[in-house]
Amino acid sequence: MILGIETSCDETCAAVIDQAGVVRSSVVASQVADHAAYGGVVPEIASRRHLDLVAPTVQAALERAGVAPQELTGVAVTAGPGLIGALLVGVSFAKGYAYGLGVPLIAVDHLAGHVRSLLLAEAPPVGAHLVLVASGGHTLLVDVDEDGALTTIARSLDDAAGEAFDKGARLLGLSYPGGPALSALAASGDPQRSTFTTPLAGRDDLAFSFSGLKTALSLAVARGDHERADLAAAYEDAIVRHLVERAQLGLAHTGRTCLGVAGGVAANEPLRRALSGLDCPVVLAPLAYCGDNAAMVARAALGQTPLPPIEAFALDAHARSPLG
Ligand code: KG4
Ligand code: ZN
Repeated sequence: MILGIETSCDETCAAVIDQAGVVRSSVVASQVADHAAYGGVVPEIASRRHLDLVAPTVQAALERAGVAPQELTGVAVTAGPGLIGALLVGVSFAKGYAYGLGVPLIAVDHLAGHVRSLLLAEAPPVGAHLVLVASGGHTLLVDVDEDGALTTIARSLDDAAGEAFDKGARLLGLSYPGGPALSALAASGDPQRSTFTTPLAGRDDLAFSFSGLKTALSLAVARGDHERADLAAAYEDAIVRHLVERAQLGLAHTGRTCLGVAGGVAANEPLRRALSGLDCPVVLAPLAYCGDNAAMVARAALGQTPLPPIEAFALDAHARSPLG
């Protein structure tokens, strides 16, 4: 029975998973209300809220799972990438908790956590596959080989897909968090009434780019000749087209025949629909595990070797990831 802890950004999360990979509980304490007034995540506020929330969130996860602390066989924690102050709260708590219980500590990479969230799907990917990770901080294509080893084969040259949604939402006067708000507005618009060029169209290098789209949207908003809902629909459509195109290109480059989709943006309905139409098996992360959560961290830990005690004591948080 593994306890997972995730505090890399603005959600304080704890989850319990059993040895068979069944999630016994997953609790996400959102800080959205604390950051909304500022239009985005304020790192200092995030760290302080994690301090308030981490112990009660862990407690809630154990209670919901019906598991006593003494039944835990390991504590898994996100050690990076993310906001360093936010990460340090989770890492410090996890170190103390694991030490107090006398169980091993497992350090998990947040991006690997998103990739492993696919193992929580009803029909998880089997064998080697390619994963599109689209979140607020990263947009990646991660190759997963037969042994489960991860290699990033594509990154964004500038903004992440979630960032494009969030910045686009702000340009359209929508409140934070922007992704779901922009998508909701887009649902009432017509994507045909305005057009945004698909980023990097015609280029076959494996990379993503979203900052040009954001500039195009800001110019369109300034011109004021389109309904906001139509602009949102066309903007979302361009983001989805870009993600789908690059995922297809990644499949062609690697020869992988199965695609996984994970991360906060994987919750986007038009993206889920578009990718489900590809002519290869596509595994979508369950909606509950697209956004940040600790179940994916605990699930990733099941496939990892715990840190030897001396390294557990010395575990540090890191803002960047080799996968990112
Ligand atoms: O994975 P995640 O929870 O946190 C990071 O690791 O960054 O991703 C958060 C991102 C935010 O940018 C948010 O706007 C976006 O995911 N997002 C969405 C949707 N739900 C969340 N973007 C588009 N459509 C959605 N339905
Ligand atoms: Zn994330």
